[in-house]
Amino acid sequence: MIRLVGITKRYGETEALRDVSLEIKKGDVFAIIGSSGAGKTTLLRIISMLETDYSGEYYLNDIDVRKNQEDLRKRITMVFQKPVMFNTSVFDNVAYGLRIRGLSSREVESRVNSVLELVGLYELRKKNAKKLSGGEQQRVALARALVLETEVLVLDEPTANLDAGNVQMIEAIIKEITDDGVTVVMATHNLFQAKRLANMVAYLNSGELVEVGSVKQIFESPEKEMTKRFIMGETYF
Ligand SMILES: Nc1ncnc2c1ncn2[C@@H]1O[C@H](COP(=O)(O)OP(=O)(O)OP(=O)(O)O)[C@@H](O)[C@H]1O
Ligand SMILES: [Mg+2]
Repeated sequence: MIRLVGITKRYGETEALRDVSLEIKKGDVFAIIGSSGAGKTTLLRIISMLETDYSGEYYLNDIDVRKNQEDLRKRITMVFQKPVMFNTSVFDNVAYGLRIRGLSSREVESRVNSVLELVGLYELRKKNAKKLSGGEQQRVALARALVLETEVLVLDEPTANLDAGNVQMIEAIIKEITDDGVTVVMATHNLFQAKRLANMVAYLNSGELVEVGSVKQIFESPEKEMTKRFIMGETYF
């Protein structure tokens, strides 16, 4: 579904990604692991078509993304590492994306309510989103993305800085949507989370893709020494 070939991304002197090639199949839950600064967010921004200034090739369902960015952008939604809430109700935060797409208020209401049920925020729908806890805000951000029903969902550290209860809740939501066949690409610092949720794992180090494989391969029999060390926690942070 997603095919990246030789992606290189520079920020001035910094090479955030170097010659990254990978494939993500429809229905995959694809986890990108790697230390801070490895290039995970940069890679997710490129996949989400928010970053367009890079070299290499990117195909979505065999269509050249670089030539069809405007048409393809609506097919992928990204949830950011630090979501920003609009200063309005939870309901309006989630409805926003549907309203700008011109859906009828009846359809907006039914889709928003069902997503709010899914993320456990229906009871809080009238509350100002800025007044919610971190975990609740993370779920609003997830709901905002889910309500758009795009083919690919990109999640950048969906549970960073959350307590165990909220992590569990968010992981349960991700499990539920991936069981429905949505393709998910996610970055995580949390190796256990990658193990619990993903079927495919890619290990990035200093902008380079060290190894990519099934969860079983990466965690049980990695080919590269570097992956082995990362998995064992030696180069963790
Ligand atoms: N807008 C930017 N301008 C300049 N340098 C940037 C920019 N964004 C990222 N970088 C640099 O690119 C590299 C990769 O950053 P990136 O945010 O992709 O890492 P990451 O793996 O997501 O890290 P973290 O785990 O801390 O979120 C880093 O060296 C970072 O400093
Ligand atoms: Mg990041």
